[in-house]
Amino acid sequence: MMHYKRGRPYISPSAWILAAGGFSLFISVFFKLVIIINRSDVFGMNLFFGKASAISMAMAAVLLTVWLALYVIGGDRKRIEYCVKKRLFDSRYGNPLGFQEGELLPPVKCRKIKSTTFDITIAAVSRTVEDLLQIAPVISSSINGRYRQYAAISSEADEAFNWVKYRIVDVLADKSLTVDSAEGLKSLDKTIIPIDTETFIDLKTSGSILVAGKTRSGKTTGIIAILLSVLQHGRDGHDSNVIIIDPKLAELSGIPRTMTVNPNGDAEPVMAKMKEFEDTMRTRQAVLNRLSKETGNAVKWWDAGMNPSFLFIDEYVALKCLIRKPAKGDGGFNLAGFENSLKRIITMGASAGCFAIISIAEASVEEGGLPSMLKSAMTTKILFKPTVEEARLIWNSERLRCLNLGRAYGAGDCWFSSTDGVHDMPCYLHFPYMEFEVYAELGRLVNEYYAPKE
Ligand SMILES: Nc1ncnc2c1ncn2[C@@H]1O[C@H](COP(=O)(O)OP(=O)(O)O)[C@@H](O)[C@H]1O
Ligand SMILES: [Mg+2]
Repeated sequence: MMHYKRGRPYISPSAWILAAGGFSLFISVFFKLVIIINRSDVFGMNLFFGKASAISMAMAAVLLTVWLALYVIGGDRKRIEYCVKKRLFDSRYGNPLGFQEGELLPPVKCRKIKSTTFDITIAAVSRTVEDLLQIAPVISSSINGRYRQYAAISSEADEAFNWVKYRIVDVLADKSLTVDSAEGLKSLDKTIIPIDTETFIDLKTSGSILVAGKTRSGKTTGIIAILLSVLQHGRDGHDSNVIIIDPKLAELSGIPRTMTVNPNGDAEPVMAKMKEFEDTMRTRQAVLNRLSKETGNAVKWWDAGMNPSFLFIDEYVALKCLIRKPAKGDGGFNLAGFENSLKRIITMGASAGCFAIISIAEASVEEGGLPSMLKSAMTTKILFKPTVEEARLIWNSERLRCLNLGRAYGAGDCWFSSTDGVHDMPCYLHFPYMEFEVYAELGRLVNEYYAPKE
């Protein structure tokens, strides 16, 4: 571990190797020149100079090869790490963490997540996580040269307060997907839903999906992109479903089979659909349990010939408002029944390949909002046109610092997180640009999905 020393420039290990290689090369050339100039060997040392030149040439070759290997293997990751270390540890750059003479410097590690996304982890050595969370803007400004378009978009402390992780992304890179037909959204694998050219929802590692954002931020359109992808894999032999519930009787109500609440507030049609979804979820789980017992191995839904099954509730809060409070002799179709059913689907569905997608205009968990238990059980979280305040509510984390970078977010821009090991921290992305009649395509594919097979 390194200690802080005022006035000492921060030089990376590979720079030392390059300098040593360059020096050896210089020595080798120097001795060679001495031999050429001193051809008559006045001092009788040309033999020694020749050997010294050869040895230093060999050393230069080894050192420069090692440097080149480190440069290639370390790649962008090491170069970004170096930028950050130089800014934090080199006193000429202002010592933003205020290190004292001789203080231990915290380890800094950079990990490549995707081609334009990196995570920088700084251990809470000598400084607290609170101190480290403060310097996210410094981290952004430290990354310069050919990486100057990279910035820290969020920072998060771990549970045990041992380290802080900064998500670094190329904020100018456009990774969005533009498709001119629904086929452009079809994935090769039924467990994968493409979102942009680099990002996909992995149904093997994630569960139900929470989609939040203000009105006209792109929630419904974004979810349709997901459904268009799912629908194209067709129905499986285990009653997979794509159920759409639209309480507002808005754009989605023209889609075949879309469910809504009766005008008198009777949620029976919705509850009946949810019950159907829950029933198939149980049947599918029973099939998987039987298969697991037979084979002695845990059989996953995707290996058992099942396709993912989706229940999409658009505008959850509006739906809740429409469901009449329980009245006497109501027959059980009430708010509590609805919420309990949803709870079971969200907590138990994923193992049977059954997922809920809930869209919500309010990120807050207030009276009438989304129960916090449901929010934490949904493992893919998407916030359209995000603000820092909303992000804090969605990711339930005071320790999460989101940097808005002062950018204006448009419809379809979102922050995305999922439990796939890559997107555990929210990152920015744009949902697909769909250059076709989205609602008409959804209607056509729903019909195709449920069309009786010959
Ligand atoms: N991924 C996207 N890319 C570009 N524009 C989009 C995208 N998603 C939505 N929009 C635009 O935003 C408008 C509102 O989207 P919508 O999905 O209805 O929002 P919400 O459901 O949040 O109210 C759409 O009519 C469309 O013009
Ligand atoms: Mg909508």
